[in-house]
Amino acid sequence: MAGNWKMFKTPAETIAFFEKFRPLVANSEHCEIVICPPFTNLAAAVDAAKGTHIRVGAQNIAWAKEGAFTGEISGPMIAAVGATYTIVGHSERRQYFGETDETVLKRTQAALEFGLTPIVCVGERLEERESGNTEAVLIGQCQKGIAGLTEQQFAKIVIAYEPVWAIGTGKTATPEIAADAHRTIRAQVRAKFGKEAGDAVRILYGGSVKPDNVKSLMAQPEIDGSLVGGASLDAVSFAGIVNF
Ligand code: 13P
Repeated sequence: MAGNWKMFKTPAETIAFFEKFRPLVANSEHCEIVICPPFTNLAAAVDAAKGTHIRVGAQNIAWAKEGAFTGEISGPMIAAVGATYTIVGHSERRQYFGETDETVLKRTQAALEFGLTPIVCVGERLEERESGNTEAVLIGQCQKGIAGLTEQQFAKIVIAYEPVWAIGTGKTATPEIAADAHRTIRAQVRAKFGKEAGDAVRILYGGSVKPDNVKSLMAQPEIDGSLVGGASLDAVSFAGIVNF
């Protein structure tokens, strides 16, 4: 269960969140818990998560190790503060910051090179769904973004299916729609990396996941976890999701 805080919270607000969140998930050992705050809060989050099984992740990663890339943060920098995950290719980055399947692949490879677990996001936009192109879009994103990895690299990634029309809109995909998309993604994985890899890969659903709809989503065997935006900002509500 991963929380993507997007561009919310200061370090002080991060510490306050963890103080409230830690006891609520102290006994939640059925899943991994990851919180992805803004870069400026990574150190505070890692510190606040010490001694718990909560992991901390970045929301993006540069494809280079270091260099003249103003505004970018590299894998070794993220790893040095103690974060162990990073989101890659979120639809907001694709939409507003020119992220493409090619750069998603490069960032995913960089995450793996520097020992971070990438949570690679795919998902269709509303017009793509309405024109009946969901499957083609997911297949294209998988083929260009994920299939460029070696089998060993692929075994270490997590995929997140996030239909763009369900993000921050309150319109959750029905469990059936989400499971259908997950099946499409898994089929791509099987075709490229074999049945075992397809069965093993964890696919999270993201898009308006809340404490009151998480149970029906997680009831789908295809759905292995969730990537939560808005509802992860509040300790009680994210704990409610984790403890579904
Ligand atoms: P919401 O949960 O706010 O819809 O955001 C989903 C998301 O984009 C998580 O990465």
